[in-house]
Amino acid sequence: MAVDLLLGLQWGDEGKGKIVDVLTKNYNIIARFQGGPNAGHTLEFDGIKHVLRTIPSGIFHKESINVIGNGVVIDPVVFVSELEGLNKFDIDYKKKLIISRKAHLILPTHRLLDAASEASKGKAKIGSTLKGIGPTYMDKTGRNGLRVGDLELEDFKERYRALADKHEEMISFYKVDIQYDLEELEAEFFAAVKALKELTFIDSEEFLNKSLKENKTILAEGAQGSLLDIDFGTYPFVTSSNTTAAGACTGLGVAPNKIGEVFGIFKAYTTRVGSGPFPTELFDEVGEKMAKIGNEFGAVTGRPRRCGWLDLIALKYAVQVNGVTQLMMMKSDVLSGFETLKVCTAYKYKGETIDHLPYNIEEENVTPIYTELKGWNADLTKMTSADQLPKELTDYIEFLEKELEVPIKIVSVGPDRTQTIHR
Ligand code: GDP
Ligand code: IMO
Ligand code: MG
Repeated sequence: MAVDLLLGLQWGDEGKGKIVDVLTKNYNIIARFQGGPNAGHTLEFDGIKHVLRTIPSGIFHKESINVIGNGVVIDPVVFVSELEGLNKFDIDYKKKLIISRKAHLILPTHRLLDAASEASKGKAKIGSTLKGIGPTYMDKTGRNGLRVGDLELEDFKERYRALADKHEEMISFYKVDIQYDLEELEAEFFAAVKALKELTFIDSEEFLNKSLKENKTILAEGAQGSLLDIDFGTYPFVTSSNTTAAGACTGLGVAPNKIGEVFGIFKAYTTRVGSGPFPTELFDEVGEKMAKIGNEFGAVTGRPRRCGWLDLIALKYAVQVNGVTQLMMMKSDVLSGFETLKVCTAYKYKGETIDHLPYNIEEENVTPIYTELKGWNADLTKMTSADQLPKELTDYIEFLEKELEVPIKIVSVGPDRTQTIHR
């Protein structure tokens, strides 16, 4: 048995939550391997829309076990509010949801540090979700962090205090005006910790490897997207974890030879939220139309997402770095009604035409070169099989498959679970 992976190939928000939910019926276990509450994974079914932040997107299926792996960073406060959101769904999360002892904890002061760091950067800010992700991963790699397993120790409060005091000194180092009431934040944090401790903490690498031996099926759920990867993304405008396939090995403790299918998910166009380069970004009414029809507002922060044409150079890079074996194209319905569609198939880079992602893709260095394809004008949202899709969309899909050399196995035509076409 192998672990299949599902990863975002762009700058996040590709629709990972929806597809994990669709695929969960094929798996015994769904496991998140990195990121934290900077993620917002949206699921829609039975007329209900639900946004998950830390909890794996398999949680709504009766039979599934959902694991939060060691690579994830958990904010108890956000996590407990997520649990509260599940209450109306009759989900036995004390049984279905298990957490790695090795996952790191986001402290209130991590969030404050995130805010202070961003404020100090001025115009050069990352556009972080300000959930404390960067500072928490810094403490992890700096070997100062607190982990879920530490909550079981008697001296947790003293450890907490020592780290939070250090953070307060660091906040003052930034010399920015951050207003906060730490006592209030800490009261909220410790109340949430109490609730978190009612869940089961495990050595998740043991659990997952044992499950594999027992022939259980596992789907690993990524957060963010490949272009936000700490190593391979558009650094420094990235998140602080490895969002690419290798991150699933380190974030769950499964060996590379245990990875099976790698599902790569992308939007039929491109979006980005936060700062950083985006070669195919549109600043005109075409981009505005995509944002409007696609309802492109962040699931976590509500910020408008920047929109642009599909960038095949960036997508090929992501397919390569992840070893993608199957592709899933999302939000195809949003492109209905555009007369012509453009796909970036090369870059003009320092006077030359190139077909790979260079070190530096800032606007002043890179100009996208587009291939134009004919658009379609049809309501896709009620279509249920590939043979109903308009010819121009099938041509678009086949063009991408040829360029990317990987089959597109799912075409999504709306946010609902049922609006999913298998090819
Ligand atoms: P994730 O972070 O990758 O899980 O994606 P998000 O949930 O942040 O953003 C994807 C958004 O697109 C959500 O609002 C989904 O409900 C929505 N969505 C997903 N698939 C489709 C689709 O095929 N068509 C349309 N119109 N919306 C979709
Ligand atoms: P999902 O899992 C889209 C972006 C932020 C910012 C940068 C760093 O829903 O696809 P951070 O909070 O990690 O310090 O932010 O990364 N970002 C995301 N963009 N989807 C996400 O997650 C994101 N998580 C972080 O906007 O540009
Ligand atoms: Mg999202």
